[in-house]
Amino acid sequence: MRISDKPVAKRLEALGVEIRPGVSLEELTSLGIGGTTDQLLIRRYDTLPQVMRALKNEGIPHKFLGGGTNVLVADGELPWVVLHLPTSQPGMRVEGTAAYVDAAADLGGTVTFCAKRDLGGMEGLIGVPGTVGGALRMNAGAYGMQIGSYVREVKLYRAAERKIEILRHDQISFEYRHTSFAPDDMMLAVKLELPSKPFKEILQGIRICNEKRRSSQPLGQKSAGCIFKNPPGKSAGRMIDELGLKGLNVGDARISDRHANFFVNAGTASAKDMLTLIGDVRERVHKAFDVELEHEVVVWNV
Ligand code: EPU
Repeated sequence: MRISDKPVAKRLEALGVEIRPGVSLEELTSLGIGGTTDQLLIRRYDTLPQVMRALKNEGIPHKFLGGGTNVLVADGELPWVVLHLPTSQPGMRVEGTAAYVDAAADLGGTVTFCAKRDLGGMEGLIGVPGTVGGALRMNAGAYGMQIGSYVREVKLYRAAERKIEILRHDQISFEYRHTSFAPDDMMLAVKLELPSKPFKEILQGIRICNEKRRSSQPLGQKSAGCIFKNPPGKSAGRMIDELGLKGLNVGDARISDRHANFFVNAGTASAKDMLTLIGDVRERVHKAFDVELEHEVVVWNV
């Protein structure tokens, strides 16, 4: 969707929005897959309610993108604009055992920032790529922990109320890779309450998690992490592996040789290739194990 040449573009720019016309989502996602659209950088998030009203009045559909590390975007000209909080110099500060972090901050950078101030708990998240906002929305987790356990407050643009609100942790439900946030809520900032731990001890935990991740996941390749959620008590990766599907491909969309729940873009895979591969694997797992795998990756179909 192109809005850069429409009258609304001027109004959005006056609200502090920078419009980047015709951006390829290949460049904005870790999978390196996706079509083109206008990208809107929200420079002042206090103007979000007005920005959203302007988009609604013009009938311009939108989606929020964080780090783009857990999303599979459709090919071609996309029918919605993409809203983005700029990632340069997001705020991060610590007061006692509380950390106040902007949603645009890098998740790994946040774990390290807190560790240096003797605040731990999030060691498992160190290698999870993406932003704090994305991690909140999905309740990112690894190695027995999840970010939701440490959330005290979330500042967000609440789409249903069309205003910026602060939610307390008891007003949000955090489940396995799922939260009660609405799809069109936009995460803005979070207050985390973290356990005090000496930096050295946290660093040791971080090293162990990094090592585990390096030895089991295809870190240097273009992927969106795990494609499927683990069904209760089961491992999607193990089931796909047991079926001998590592290396299976549709075009350049390929099941990693290292971890069978990571589907990588080995070159110039399209969303169609990746979705065909995902559909094929779901069918095979269903036939063999009578299990319906659910997407862990967020799919932006058109
Ligand atoms: N396994 C295989 N073959 C494979 C992959 C895994 O046999 O190809 C076996 C492993 O040997 C192990 C079991 O399956 O016994 C579980 O594997 P692993 O420890 O790698 O964890 P996982 O359940 O596949 C989950 C998360 C990861 C997270 C890791 C570490 C999901 C869907 N995945 O993976 O998160 O990094 O645990 O805690 O919950 C993600 O969210 O994108 C993600 C990658």
